[in-house]
Amino acid sequence: MTRIKFNEQTFETENNETILHTLLRNNVQVPYGCKAGVCQSCLMRSLDNAPPSASQVGLKDTQQKQNYFLSCICQPENDMTVVLPNAESVWLEAEVIEKIELSSNVVFLKLKSKEPLAFFAGQFVNLRRNDGVIRSYSIANTPNGEHELEFHIRILPNGQFSRWVADELEVGMSLSFSHAQGNCHYVEGQAEQLLLLIGTGTGLAPLYGIIRDALSHKHQGEIHLFHGSRDESGLYLEEKLTALTQKHPNFHYIPCLSGADVSGKYTLGRANQIALEKFPKLNGWRVYLCGQPEMVLHSKRAAYLQGASLKEIYADAFAS
Ligand SMILES: Cc1cc2nc3c(=O)[nH]c(=O)nc-3n(C[C@H](O)[C@H](O)[C@H](O)COP(=O)(O)OP(=O)(O)OC[C@H]3O[C@@H](n4cnc5c(N)ncnc54)[C@H](O)[C@@H]3O)c2cc1C
Ligand code: FES
Repeated sequence: MTRIKFNEQTFETENNETILHTLLRNNVQVPYGCKAGVCQSCLMRSLDNAPPSASQVGLKDTQQKQNYFLSCICQPENDMTVVLPNAESVWLEAEVIEKIELSSNVVFLKLKSKEPLAFFAGQFVNLRRNDGVIRSYSIANTPNGEHELEFHIRILPNGQFSRWVADELEVGMSLSFSHAQGNCHYVEGQAEQLLLLIGTGTGLAPLYGIIRDALSHKHQGEIHLFHGSRDESGLYLEEKLTALTQKHPNFHYIPCLSGADVSGKYTLGRANQIALEKFPKLNGWRVYLCGQPEMVLHSKRAAYLQGASLKEIYADAFAS
């Protein structure tokens, strides 16, 4: 058991409990998103004892040295006095400038930042509602000088954030967002490299951004996109992607359906299985995996066993 001091109050952790869980159990409202050490929205700082290094994975060296840590994966070994980072340095403001239905359960959202932005297509940002609810979303566009960000948001029937986006968020409203994070993006410099991209559901969002980025950099190697869904409504960018294959002969789009009663015009089965069977030797390839966490984890292992180097596998699990 350890003691956590926050805002002049002291809380005791229970067995193997994270600091985030301890605070939430005691009804202390602090920001969080994925609860899986990915989105960094639960960032905190210890003012005395150093946090366990496992809770600093993915943070910058400078942040690690200043005892920043992710409270959702921090099981403290010593008593700690903790604070939230300076909120002003974390959040930027944007206006919603477009909102369209891409399918029955996917919404396209375009934001315009009030200040200049640096990001790569495929990275993600945390979006924050006025009441402090935060969720991560991947950037589906390349920087265009207009400070715009595009997202594909899957609407979950009882999703706290996504349902609000569908029902209440309107063009003209403001939204806070964090700086872009993550290393799931196109890397210039190996224009001939073979690219394999596998995504399920709105895992297509970062992949669409990466493909547009690669093509705009005149990537010469073959680019294979496998997009998986249970039914046709999930293949929400089919027309645009098919048009892209006609414009760029090195880009291949394979929509896959895994549900029952689906049209034979698509490849039937799970996108990751189909892709990894089609390309059994991945030595020298760069592999991008985005979407459902189990698919991402399983495919990462399989791609490695099939020859892809770990540093050439870029993955974003949509942990939720
Ligand atoms: C790095 C990263 C990038 C992401 N990028 C995107 C993106 O580009 N587009 C996108 O749509 N989402 C993306 N997500 C997921 C997103 O952050 C939210 O988790 C998601 O939108 C659900 O939030 P919510 O508040 O609507 O649902 P919540 O209120 O958090 O969850 C509602 C209920 O739905 C269940 N649930 C949650 N997710 C799923 C699911 N996928 N399928 C079925 N049930 C589920 C939960 O267990 C819960 O019971 C990303 C996540 C991460 C970590
Ligand atoms: S809530 Fe801790 S990293 Fe996402």
